[in-house]
Amino acid sequence: MKITVLSGNSSAQNLKSILDEKCRSDQVVVLEQAGNKLNIDAYDVTQADLLILDCPDIQQLDWSAVEMFNLRHPQSTTVLICRGDLEQVLVQAMRVGVRDILSGSEVQDRLPEVIERARIRLAASAGNRSLGKILIFIPCKGGSGTSFIASNLAYVLGEVHHKRVLLVDLDLQFGDASFYITDIDNGRSLGDVVRKTDLDGQMLESACIQVGKNTWLLRAPHNPEQSVGITPDQVDNILTIASRHFDFICVDLERTLDPLSLRAMDRSDLIFPIMQTVLPYVRGAQRLQRTFRALHYPVSKIRLIANRQGKSDDLALPKIEEALQTKFYMQLPNDFPNASASINSGKPLYDISPEGPLTNALIQWADQLLGVSKSKLNSTTSSVWQRISTIFK
Ligand SMILES: Nc1ncnc2c1ncn2[C@@H]1O[C@H](COP(=O)(O)OP(=O)(O)OP(=O)(O)O)[C@@H](O)[C@H]1O
Ligand SMILES: [Mg+2]
Repeated sequence: MKITVLSGNSSAQNLKSILDEKCRSDQVVVLEQAGNKLNIDAYDVTQADLLILDCPDIQQLDWSAVEMFNLRHPQSTTVLICRGDLEQVLVQAMRVGVRDILSGSEVQDRLPEVIERARIRLAASAGNRSLGKILIFIPCKGGSGTSFIASNLAYVLGEVHHKRVLLVDLDLQFGDASFYITDIDNGRSLGDVVRKTDLDGQMLESACIQVGKNTWLLRAPHNPEQSVGITPDQVDNILTIASRHFDFICVDLERTLDPLSLRAMDRSDLIFPIMQTVLPYVRGAQRLQRTFRALHYPVSKIRLIANRQGKSDDLALPKIEEALQTKFYMQLPNDFPNASASINSGKPLYDISPEGPLTNALIQWADQLLGVSKSKLNSTTSSVWQRISTIFK
């Protein structure tokens, strides 16, 4: 949630420390204003989900500006903090759409509950537009093909299924998802946006590389130093904003779990551990399963993927399923010629081989995510398909 405070009082610091404590995963902007009159128009508060007006002199508040803000932003919550007799301003505040009024002395105790109400209102209004799904891709062991699969599935969801998709490369040490689907480097990365307190969907999008009509890529920081100090709350914030702006957020993780990847997994809708069907990967999958159990993730959130199927040294799938006590959600064929042509050209697999075996498997996977059967997909025009996929979402 984006919280903007306009404060004309010396209490701005007090407010800020309450918000810093209670709203760790929100974006909080505190704008201090000199003088007795709060000038709402002078600031860009248009993105605020919760607008807190901390008035030094309620007589000087521009009520029509408050009303205008509330009319233009019906999903936002406006809260007034004022000194003096609250009774006198209650009716006027109600008329212009203010949701809560607090006296200065009530701030400490009541602000947290007011914030919570704003959060519930925002979630209810967001119900009109479903939030984007967060999909995590994690290797059971290094080299399982996770980054290649995550980036190419993201591209298929965007360019074949016409969803708005963001691929986030959260492999902060050796991020390479970018190289699999584009050779463009606009110099921007996660490092540029992760610390921004006023981040919104548009700013996030402009920090990305647009890889296709509907597919964006947020690269990992260009060097490991830029990654130092990134916090789980900052990652959480990026995912929150991304889920309001995109239909799918595909997150490529490195194999080693750390607080950032744990937070991303906590926030996710589905987790896809990717493995090849040989013994070292089975052990890796078992290790991950133990971690998921310890984190109390529901079994339905985990979807195991068998990659590079068809190689001569593959173990039998039923044996692995028995050892792991779980069925594979998808089996992806080994498609060495097309995979290496894609990697060597820096182009997405779909552009290299739109009908290749691995591309087909990725399209089926995307169909399953959208709940659409293949026959429906083949027999619809693209505009009808768009409508169907919305219904089935
Ligand atoms: N189905 C496939 N068929 C053929 N080659 C594949 C397939 N999937 C992935 N590969 C290849 O496997 C190699 C390793 O892939 P990738 O870098 O995505 O693995 P990773 O699991 O992300 O590794 P890391 O642990 O280094 O992050 C790449 O060269 C990729 O092209
Ligand atoms: Mg990788």
